[in-house]
Amino acid sequence: MRARRSCLAVPGSNPRFLEKAQSLPVDEVFLDLEDSVAPLAKDEARGNVVRYLKEGDWSGKTAVVRVNDLTTQWTYRDVIDVVEGAGDRLDCVMLPKVQDAGHVAWLDTLLTQIERATGLPEGGIGIEAQIENARGLVNVDAIAAASPRLETLVFGPADFMASIGMRTLVVGEQPPGYDADAYHHILMRILMAARTYGLQAIDGPYLQIKDLDGYRRVARRSAALGFDGKWVLHPSQVDVANEVYAPAQEDYDRAELILEAYEYYTTVERKGAVMLGDEMIDEASRKMALVIAAKGRAAGLARTTRFEGAIRT
Ligand code: GLV
Ligand code: MG
Repeated sequence: MRARRSCLAVPGSNPRFLEKAQSLPVDEVFLDLEDSVAPLAKDEARGNVVRYLKEGDWSGKTAVVRVNDLTTQWTYRDVIDVVEGAGDRLDCVMLPKVQDAGHVAWLDTLLTQIERATGLPEGGIGIEAQIENARGLVNVDAIAAASPRLETLVFGPADFMASIGMRTLVVGEQPPGYDADAYHHILMRILMAARTYGLQAIDGPYLQIKDLDGYRRVARRSAALGFDGKWVLHPSQVDVANEVYAPAQEDYDRAELILEAYEYYTTVERKGAVMLGDEMIDEASRKMALVIAAKGRAAGLARTTRFEGAIRT
């Protein structure tokens, strides 16, 4: 599974943006058939999405289509048209407003049928599940376990805030009157389910697209907890997402150093807990370092330091 620091939302009804999206340095692009497309434009958007998937250059990006949610009349037609039309160009289908495991199971079954009917490799298309309401959050563990196709859990803050009656209209920002972090429980809950089942955890949109400081602040919050990436709605947000969800150079160097040193000490010197500079490192340190090193490698960082050999203390 490839890294997804930046996940670009592109309305399926906007050919100009479908064109431009191909040149942006994002990890994932998702062509949207849901809330950024008006009901009367859904049919045309489906056609655009199939055409752009087939004819566009999405190389180096995870290609995803967001279909409509299962309470609408559009979902089955979205999945069938997109997967029959361009399934070989598609990495994942994103299902919004997932409320229980049955929603994911429905999509899994439909994908399997289309893959069999069209000769696509069975199980090849992944699923991204958006958690966007109270019911989805309460059922998030079962949702995360619902299909081997699942690759990500995605927090949908706008719909979520509406669903629980949170008193603010500014998506991702703290509601006035509450002194702590109103998103902590939600983000942690999603993250725990994602990590339990080996999925990526992705933060949703920040709608004030001109406020890059605000975007950075909100992104840093979920990145600090361990989220893998965040949606970008506008080209100006791309670099911030790519930077915030990659480790800092210093942390990356330190992580690689710990891995290299620990390998040396455990194999050459056969020790399990040793000093590296002022810090004691052991097997748990290696696991933490692995996470940072993996994120740094996925982000294309290069090492600027090396382990110089045994350091005596
Ligand atoms: C995204 O879909 C959101 O509702 O925030
Ligand atoms: Mg939503």
